[in-house]
Amino acid sequence: MTAIGTTKSAGNTLRDVLTRLQTEGAALGHFNVSDQVLLKALVAAAEETKLPVLVGASEGEREFFGARQLAAMVKSERQESDLPIFLNADHTHSLAKALEAAKAGFDAVTIDFSALPFEENVARTKEAVQAIKAVNPSILAEGEIGDIGTGSEIKEAAQGGRLSTPEEARQFVEATGIDNLAPAVGNMHGMLKSMVQGKARKHLDLERIAQIKQAAGVFLTLHGGSGTEDEHFRKAIAAGINIIHINTELRVAWRESLGESLARDPNEVVPYKILRPVVDAVKQVVSSRLRLFHGQTVNPEMVGSVA
Ligand code: G3H
Ligand code: ZN
Repeated sequence: MTAIGTTKSAGNTLRDVLTRLQTEGAALGHFNVSDQVLLKALVAAAEETKLPVLVGASEGEREFFGARQLAAMVKSERQESDLPIFLNADHTHSLAKALEAAKAGFDAVTIDFSALPFEENVARTKEAVQAIKAVNPSILAEGEIGDIGTGSEIKEAAQGGRLSTPEEARQFVEATGIDNLAPAVGNMHGMLKSMVQGKARKHLDLERIAQIKQAAGVFLTLHGGSGTEDEHFRKAIAAGINIIHINTELRVAWRESLGESLARDPNEVVPYKILRPVVDAVKQVVSSRLRLFHGQTVNPEMVGSVA
């Protein structure tokens, strides 16, 4: 099956978009979806900002949505809007799931064997890269090194901590043939409560990002973007980050706005009336992050808190 982004004219594939954004000093926003409300919010944000987006779905999110069903919907949204909307199989922990996504038409696969010892991570990632490229050579393969914790959730304590080194980044890229690398550079999956309240922020090891970029020589992805200091996002992009993953911020906006919408009228039972404000709330978060990643002015009300 053709990858979603390759159905368009030359110059508009995911690789083309990443190459162009890199020269412009911007990064592609990657946002996770697990239902159609979140997907609608992403498409609305892409339409509002006229910026490209990478829709992401982890194994759990794909299981809930349906991998093929999600691919079909993204393809349809892309055709209808004519916007560069791409699809990534996020955090894929097996060869079978990587192949399933490749065959469903995903534009990219995040191959995640980072919990395994380095040599095993190399071997399993290389095998998956070769397998998905055999399905479609234009699919972008991402590999992960280091430990940034798991789960886009609200957490009691910080996770992860084993930062990636430039040398292991170089070795990993060379040995696996990946197109983009996701290193551990002070980032962490999920948010602490203080981050949700806007009282604390994630900070990145910016110098390490620049060193890894130079050593790896491929596109770099920043996972665990939720709750990161805005200035660190800007500097991380300048240091070589090409894709930024945001999930927990969307989930927080989804839950809070859904709660408010349900509480507004206990007698309301029409799903699209209850869910419309949820789409709007998530869209605001996505648009704000997209503008930041593209060096545009961000609405001050959206800076500092997702609450
Ligand atoms: O792959 C998804 C992300 O890395 C999202 O992380 O929930 O901290 O934004 P986040
Ligand atoms: Zn991630």
